[in-house]
Amino acid sequence: MFDFIVFLIIIYVILYVIVFIFFDCDLETGFYEKFGKPIGHLRGKVVFITGASSGIGECTALALAKNGVKLILTARRREELERVKRKCIEVSQNQLTQNDVLVIPMDVTDLSLHRKNWDYAVRHFGKVDILFNNAGRSQRALFETIDIAVDRQMFDLNTFSVINLTRIAVNYFNSVGGGHVAVVSSLAGVIGVPFSSSYDATKHAVHGYFNALRAEKIGRNLAVSIICPGPTFTNFLSESFTNTIGQKYGKNVQSTDKRMTGERCGQLCAVILANKIRESWVALSPLIFFTYFTVYCPVLYNFILKTVGPEKLFKARDSQELTLQEEYPNKQMD
Ligand SMILES: NC(=O)c1ccc[n+]([C@@H]2O[C@H](COP(=O)([O-])OP(=O)(O)OC[C@H]3O[C@@H](n4cnc5c(N)ncnc54)[C@H](OP(=O)(O)O)[C@@H]3O)[C@@H](O)[C@H]2O)c1
Repeated sequence: MFDFIVFLIIIYVILYVIVFIFFDCDLETGFYEKFGKPIGHLRGKVVFITGASSGIGECTALALAKNGVKLILTARRREELERVKRKCIEVSQNQLTQNDVLVIPMDVTDLSLHRKNWDYAVRHFGKVDILFNNAGRSQRALFETIDIAVDRQMFDLNTFSVINLTRIAVNYFNSVGGGHVAVVSSLAGVIGVPFSSSYDATKHAVHGYFNALRAEKIGRNLAVSIICPGPTFTNFLSESFTNTIGQKYGKNVQSTDKRMTGERCGQLCAVILANKIRESWVALSPLIFFTYFTVYCPVLYNFILKTVGPEKLFKARDSQELTLQEEYPNKQMD
């Protein structure tokens, strides 16, 4: 009998591993992509996207536009937003007109602009259905060398701007009977990843806020989604903070890197929005498998860290050697 139970456990574990090799997201997200609501379910809805001028924000906007979703595109670079707007209208194949994609240039860290721009979007479309918080920047730095001013700036961008805009959205959704708030976090918001501690902390904080919000609103008409991508092809790496204020990491991703494409990530983000998924992990194999083990078996994560060392783990994340700020003095200023 004991042998039989062990045999069943082994078969279960083997099946689990095999399933993960074929998925580039957690099992719930993979299930909804195959059997849940299609993205077209959102046709005619209005989605407010931050950080829509490049990367995951741009790709999500395109995946939604293909399905006739109306969009508010925000970021700092107006010309890039106008480029994304043109692409959205083009891929929508006549489902969207000029009036259906609204460009609002704004720096999300200027909180005084949030209410004004949210109200402007509501006046323009008559409603907003979903807030997709995506604007953010990563970091590459050694914990003990980080200037506290960098931590503050990163929390302003990745956490406080998200929370302030989300509060405005939730108040609005309360007044109209419901809505959906989503945030792009990171696998670094689930696991403690080495050499980006301020970034990890800003994303972990977002999980705290969003999980508490979900708990407060459970059973009410407010959906709360947290999306956690792993390494993805975007401008992310070069835009990363370091340990020094005003400095960017400046290294570019290479086409040979092991990363998910922005298009695939944007497609999965649109699936997550259409199905109001609670929390999603989105990354190439074996990172999802690794994340499950880390969350459910943290002893294993410690073992791997000890065995391979943080530098090797970092290399697996960035597909290149770690280059810390000390080797990049005054590289590029904001
Ligand atoms: N790429 C990855 O490997 C990865 C992995 C996990 C999580 N993520 C998350 O994905 C999100 C999007 O990043 P990405 O990879 O798509 O990088 P990206 O291509 O650099 O996009 C970042 C976006 O944020 C906007 N942004 C940055 N600072 C801003 C500010 N102060 N005000 C308004 N907008 C601002 C940028 O637009 P402007 O410069 O025009 O303002 C841009 O549209 C981030 O939250 C990031 O944490 C990315």
